[in-house]
Amino acid sequence: MTLRTRIYGLLDPESHGHAARQVRTVEVMLILVGISSVSAGTVASLPPGARAVAAFITGIVAVLFFFEYLTRLWVAPENPHLHLVSAGRSRFKWVLSAEGIIDLLAVIPALAMAYGSARLGAESASMFVLVWVLKLATHAPGVGLIARVFHNERSALAAAAALFAIVLFSAATIAHWLEGEHQQEHFGSIPASLWWAVVTLTTTGYGDAVPLSPAGRVLGGVVMLCGISVLALLAGILATGFSAEVRRREFVRIWELVAQVPFFSEVGAIAISDIVDRLRSRSYPAGATVIKKGAAGDSMFFIVSGEVEVFIGERVKKLVDGDFFGEMALLDRKPRSADVVTGTACTMLVLNVADFYQLAGQQPKLISAIEAEAKRRREGDTE
Ligand code: CMP
Repeated sequence: MTLRTRIYGLLDPESHGHAARQVRTVEVMLILVGISSVSAGTVASLPPGARAVAAFITGIVAVLFFFEYLTRLWVAPENPHLHLVSAGRSRFKWVLSAEGIIDLLAVIPALAMAYGSARLGAESASMFVLVWVLKLATHAPGVGLIARVFHNERSALAAAAALFAIVLFSAATIAHWLEGEHQQEHFGSIPASLWWAVVTLTTTGYGDAVPLSPAGRVLGGVVMLCGISVLALLAGILATGFSAEVRRREFVRIWELVAQVPFFSEVGAIAISDIVDRLRSRSYPAGATVIKKGAAGDSMFFIVSGEVEVFIGERVKKLVDGDFFGEMALLDRKPRSADVVTGTACTMLVLNVADFYQLAGQQPKLISAIEAEAKRRREGDTE
């Protein structure tokens, strides 16, 4: 693996490794610090010293963004979406991509500082705070998810928007008929009534335009109820879309991790999808206690990467990627038999006790293999 591949792995928003997540956290923190310092710089009542510090921090953040931009440009040929024949063409495509443009705009304060005074940099930074917010959107985990949910649910959202428009225009038209004569200013035309219709339909209710006739008030009540229904419909569409997309992503992620555990390789595709649905991934730093001797057994673990140490009396048994542990308490329905501590940073797949017993009924071969290993371990322990 070349240095460029490794750095791309750290910067790729889709990589789930421990280091990549740390890099993303640092990046998001940096953006937040940048946005805060730029915002602080615009507060006129702040003492000059504090504003100078804010400008200095803004400058540092902008310079760091500049180096980040150069690094992303360098590693662009590693991006599978830009995998073109020549590295130059991949980089060119990245520069013209939405991410490339946002990242370039985000470094303009740094470039301004390089060519002009520090003051110029801080001032242009205040203009580019919007771009930094966008940058946050491209790097913060979950923002891509929102975009995806809107894309997936576009037809349902369009139907809800159409319903919204139908109620809106009907309400504005009827309000114009009912109130237009007496309240020229607010209901004199359909466009003028639209403001009341929007304010009422979204249940905001500023109260600047109010129907006065009894029929107008009945209409207002009906529009408010329609508004609540349409908003509930929108919330429902988005909530369902979110949960479906999160499940889909999690499935793909766990599927990839399961492929790294040879233990699962003999299970057929249908059974694997059943198992993948029940597994959750969890990362641990080195030195973390995963299992405490004597505790109740609530789950078992498959090591995807890293090493753990099992403390059996005086002996220490090392388990590595591909191994599993925590099965004995579940099989014997007894407390944990040993302490298990991570030797290195680990990524594990966790199967909770309820899913373990369900799986035992559905995948007897898999559980027999786990039982056989547990038996072997127990015999080894009693030797
Ligand atoms: P459990 O008893 O649930 O919790 C401690 C775990 O340590 C245990 O399950 C096994 O997975 C693991 N363990 C215990 N003894 C050994 C051993 N001799 N070799 C490997 N792993 C063990």
